Amino acid sequence: MLRFNVTCRGKKRINAMKRIGVLTSGGDAPGMNACIRSVVRSAVYRKIEVFGFYKGYEGLINNSFEKMGARSVSNILSKGGTILKTARSSEFRTPEGRIKAARTLKRNRIDGLVVIGGNGSYMGAHVLAEEHNIKVIGAPGTIDNDIHDTDYTIGASTALNTALDAIDKIRDTVTSMERIYVVEVMGRKEAFLAIRVGLAGGAEDILYPSNDYQMCDICDDIIAGRKKGKVSWIVVVSEGAAKASDVSELIKEETGFEVRPIVLGHVQRGGSPEAFDRILASRMGAKAVEALVAGETDKSVGIRSDEMCLIPLTKAYTVDKKKAKLEKELYDLTKILAI
Ligand code: F6P
Repeated sequence: MLRFNVTCRGKKRINAMKRIGVLTSGGDAPGMNACIRSVVRSAVYRKIEVFGFYKGYEGLINNSFEKMGARSVSNILSKGGTILKTARSSEFRTPEGRIKAARTLKRNRIDGLVVIGGNGSYMGAHVLAEEHNIKVIGAPGTIDNDIHDTDYTIGASTALNTALDAIDKIRDTVTSMERIYVVEVMGRKEAFLAIRVGLAGGAEDILYPSNDYQMCDICDDIIAGRKKGKVSWIVVVSEGAAKASDVSELIKEETGFEVRPIVLGHVQRGGSPEAFDRILASRMGAKAVEALVAGETDKSVGIRSDEMCLIPLTKAYTVDKKKAKLEKELYDLTKILAI
């Protein structure tokens, strides 16, 4: 039976969050728009006003924003990039820049801020919270998957698939021309993209930052592989480990084979977010608003074993050793499967 509970009538919800701000900062990542949409609509659903700041922290410094409503985020779920634009703000790194940013928030009576970005943006968010007593919650938006204590960050999975699509295509030409290709992927000092794309794309070798590789071993492997009849060879190099051009030169000199370097570059940051990232971003955006409403601050939302969680920002931007262990296991598997 459908019941109407009269006692609900006239009850006033107490909500200290009346206005929140949202911004995207640092390198863009596929799914940032889905996260903005989720923040805006989750807030509107709770009768909270939302201000979207342009170009990350620059928007706070320059008081550059738009008031957002449910319709401001129509049809952005599938779009790559970020409708709010993004930047790496050097002014925000200064105390003077952060004073301007805090002034903007106070002048506009903004009670809390959602920062969608990576570890550099998180450091900024933490300092802003600490210096100016601003309530800040982060949503991890970065293709690098380098935020501590969250299994995934928004955009990492889509970037991985973009890189994989490229590797699959490269494999066609590698096999046809019996060459060696050295493919450089993004990811800063993090091994996530390099190792996952290496495993998924059947790479013969992977060079990633924390791995103590020897070029002569890689070259010996290549020569032995040719003898065993392996005619195509892809070496994935993380940008944090080496440059594809340098690795190519060394392999060419040592083996005498034809080698081509390829840098996948910013292609990996673009494109429509895949379902995984849209769902992740939607959950994280909603969780960020929920956290602000609950009075949380100086924390990042995360996902662990498919459950949403909160992580102190000071921990979120540090290196996650557990992740490094997992990546090493995946690297070892790649090597076994490449025999
Ligand atoms: O942090 C995301 C990222 O794409 C890294 O993988 C890469 O090293 C960096 O940003 C590139 O930054 P920019 O777009 O400023 O050159």
